[in-house]
Amino acid sequence: MLKNSSFALFFFFICLESVASAFFAEANALQKWKASFINQNNSLLKSWNLETKNSTNFSANPTASSSPCNWFGVSCIDGRVNRLNLTNASIHACLYEFPFSSFPNLAYMDLSINRLFGTIPSQIGKLSKLVYLDLATNQFTGTIPSEMGQLTNLQFLCLDENQLAQEIGQLVSLSYLSLRTNKLDGSIPVCFGNLRNLTDLYLDENQLSRSIPSELGKLKALQILTLSSNNLTGQIPTSLSGLTSLNTLYLFLNQLSGPIPLELGKLTSLLNLRLSENNLTGQIPVSLGDLSHLKHLSVSLNQLSGSNPCELGKLKKLVNVCMFSNSFTGDLLEFCCGKVLERFIVYSNKLSGPIPQSLKNCSSFVRVRFDHNQLSGNIFEEFGVYPNLTFMDLSSNNFYGELSSIRGSNKQLQTLKIAKNNLAGSIPPEFGSLSQLHALDLSSN
Ligand SMILES: *[C@@H]1O[C@H](CO)[C@@H](O)[C@H](O)[C@H]1NC(C)=O
Ligand SMILES: *[C@@H]1O[C@H](CO)[C@@H](O)[C@H](O)[C@H]1NC(C)=O
Ligand SMILES: *[C@@H]1O[C@H](CO)[C@@H](O)[C@H](O)[C@H]1NC(C)=O
Ligand SMILES: *[C@@H]1O[C@H](CO)[C@@H](O)[C@H](O)[C@H]1NC(C)=O
Ligand SMILES: *[C@@H]1O[C@H](CO)[C@@H](O)[C@H](O)[C@H]1NC(C)=O
Ligand SMILES: *[C@@H]1O[C@H](CO)[C@@H](O)[C@H](O)[C@H]1NC(C)=O
Ligand SMILES: *[C@@H]1O[C@H](CO)[C@@H](O)[C@H](O)[C@H]1NC(C)=O
Ligand SMILES: *[C@@H]1O[C@H](CO)[C@@H](O)[C@H](O)[C@H]1NC(C)=O
Ligand SMILES: *[C@@H]1O[C@H](CO)[C@@H](O)[C@H](O)[C@H]1NC(C)=O
Ligand SMILES: *[C@@H]1O[C@H](CO)[C@@H](O)[C@H](O)[C@H]1NC(C)=O
Repeated sequence: MLKNSSFALFFFFICLESVASAFFAEANALQKWKASFINQNNSLLKSWNLETKNSTNFSANPTASSSPCNWFGVSCIDGRVNRLNLTNASIHACLYEFPFSSFPNLAYMDLSINRLFGTIPSQIGKLSKLVYLDLATNQFTGTIPSEMGQLTNLQFLCLDENQLAQEIGQLVSLSYLSLRTNKLDGSIPVCFGNLRNLTDLYLDENQLSRSIPSELGKLKALQILTLSSNNLTGQIPTSLSGLTSLNTLYLFLNQLSGPIPLELGKLTSLLNLRLSENNLTGQIPVSLGDLSHLKHLSVSLNQLSGSNPCELGKLKKLVNVCMFSNSFTGDLLEFCCGKVLERFIVYSNKLSGPIPQSLKNCSSFVRVRFDHNQLSGNIFEEFGVYPNLTFMDLSSNNFYGELSSIRGSNKQLQTLKIAKNNLAGSIPPEFGSLSQLHALDLSSN
């Protein structure tokens, strides 16, 4: 019994000693890094203070305040540093002095929103337990080190808002990868098609060029794909139809050409589809009428043409529809069947015919732009009641009729433009009740 307990006591001391020396090694490493900061007056990191006098016999006092586990931004599991969260901690430093070898158990590292500069050191590959790495909003430059490919446990990687260039390796466990707002150039690596666990891939606001690799279509778990604001060319690959979990597809502001693939109609989970500001041609495919959850559709500033397939009118959840600056012809589509359409922006096309009854009845309207088309008809017959409408522009069309029939129930209306039409009559007294109205343009009628 006595033997047992003295053995236990002995064992306890051994453990304390090894924990204590780990404390010391980790505390010492952090303190050394802090000593390399350009701003030595960092008040947030006051607690990062190793009592060096006692450090030679650290085992005497392993739970003292010199344990890094009590320091600002540091969390431990079993006495070893497991999480380092120094987001927005006014750190002005480079990462070269960071003691990567000293944290064998570090799994979460959040250094976002600081002034970290220089390149990301290749030693980062030593943080083999890392599952979460956020270095966003710093001043890192240069290339992403290929050693990052050794972080095979990494599930979350965010390098947004730096000045990084080049490609990334083989992080097959990743479920979240964000490289927004960097200077990544060249093509999107074909090997991204191996990141089968990815749910979120953000590559927007870079300088990526060439065509979108068809391999991206293998990312079956992907829910969000943003490739917008790059320099991508070629056609939208039909293989994207494989992304059946996708809810957000942003391809806007590139130089994509060719048609909108009818295969996109298979992405039946889509909520957000933004293809604007490209060089897309042809008609909107009928198959997009299958995207029954779609809330936001934007195809503006392309060279699309033809009349819009009436199947799109089935989309009951549409809140925002942006189709301006194309060459669409035919009638305005009856997009308001779900009574939730708020923004319907179709100016600068070649649309003709009258405003359909369901749009006149679309009480959810907030912002409407039908201007610069060839629409006609007596718009004020039964013209709707829009309690939330703030902006309506119907200028440069062929509308006619008596203004006096407008109803005075659009209390939120701030801007109403019906210039360059064939309206007649006088300004109705109901306009006096439009108390929010700032801008009224009825010129050239
Ligand atoms: C820290 O020092 C820098 C100059 O090195 C100074 O600009 C900054 O205001 C100081 N910050 C604090 C919190 O004292
Ligand atoms: C060193 O440790 C001893 C006992 O553990 C303690 O009394 C003393 O205050 C410590 N020294 C400093 C500088 O904190
Ligand atoms: C360190 O502290 C322990 C516990 O107080 C003590 O037994 C040991 O003699 C000290 N070692 C040194 C080198 O001072
Ligand atoms: C770091 O802390 C901030 C709040 O201080 C929190 O929002 C963020 O999720 C934390 N990051 C990690 C990796 O724990
Ligand atoms: C960062 O911290 C400052 C105050 O220290 C605060 O004003 C600012 O909102 C924080 N920024 C973020 C993004 O949390
Ligand atoms: C992908 O995720 C699944 C389920 O979470 C997991 O079992 C698998 O190991 C992951 N694959 C990789 C390569 O990490
Ligand atoms: C986009 O690519 C074209 C050539 O394909 C090039 O001339 C242009 O500079 C690039 N623009 C940007 C912003 O990278
Ligand atoms: C896209 O269209 C613009 C304007 O029509 C044109 O200047 C540009 O060369 C086109 N780009 C491609 C890649 O076709
Ligand atoms: C429009 O509203 C009127 C009156 O509320 C209703 O009689 C008519 O059936 C509606 N028309 C359509 C196409 O929804
Ligand atoms: C007007 O806006 C309010 C608040 O956003 C909303 O609750 C209401 O349903 C809207 N009205 C219509 C007719 O859509």
